[in-house]
Amino acid sequence: MKIQIMGAGALGSLVGALMQLSGFDVVFVARGKQLSALKGGLRVSGLIQTELDVYATRKPENADITFVTVKAYDTKAAAKELAEVDPGIVCSLQNGVGNEEILQKYCDKVLGGVTSYAANLADYGHVVYAGEGFTYVGELDGRMSNEAVEVAEVLRKAGMRAEAVSDIHFRIWAKAVINAAINPITALCRVKNGMVVENENLWRVAEAVALEGREVMLRMGYDFDAVSEVRKVAEMTAENRSSMLQDVERERRTEIDFINGAIVRKGRELGINCPVNETLLYLIRGVESGSSH
Ligand code: PAF
Repeated sequence: MKIQIMGAGALGSLVGALMQLSGFDVVFVARGKQLSALKGGLRVSGLIQTELDVYATRKPENADITFVTVKAYDTKAAAKELAEVDPGIVCSLQNGVGNEEILQKYCDKVLGGVTSYAANLADYGHVVYAGEGFTYVGELDGRMSNEAVEVAEVLRKAGMRAEAVSDIHFRIWAKAVINAAINPITALCRVKNGMVVENENLWRVAEAVALEGREVMLRMGYDFDAVSEVRKVAEMTAENRSSMLQDVERERRTEIDFINGAIVRKGRELGINCPVNETLLYLIRGVESGSSH
């Protein structure tokens, strides 16, 4: 079975490495310095230590399953490239809301996915496996399909904890609300996730973001205890530097529009004001426009 990783950055490289180690044929699609580095091999450190020769390329190919791990703002470009080949089952493992809907415009079989596996790029071609998590995959319409079951099985064969679920849309929103309350605060204040709960000033903001997210989700029909889940994730990942903090530190674009931006847009659609999410959205956009990307 041929597995393709569309966007072999930190998470994509980790998933690809675990797949290849368990015997799957893996195509790593990457760009720029990461692509050049991968051509010389992929190093994994952290929870496992290994070095692999990998097949890395700029453009996607035909595959049985394609995991999409590009940044949310690159989803459209990735989807257009995937439309030029037969990518098989396309399963997003990205952050934020709206990726699957973009992929569906260009690809036939699209599954939603949410993962809490933690990976960081120590350098181009070197991924740190920072934490084991859980991955959920599922159809956006809530059907339990053979494709979703098969993708979860493939992930498990690669040694990952994974399950096919019938509520992936809820899980995507829940993760986005958690990210909305942790990521921009850590990025603006340049702190690790744990500080969001340890510092009572930061916690006030995080709680307000979570409560707005909860209200929006409630109106969508999802009862999500956002405040306690944000607390739990910030405590569990206390030593992590969030993905948005890493983006801001490297002067890269962030996924704010697909996280807090998505909450603000959905709120507007449902007649719910989300002023704290909106403020963080504008502050992060301000940081982005002040950097060189
Ligand atoms: O985006 C991230 O960094 C992660 O989703 C999370 C949960 C905030 C942990 O760092």
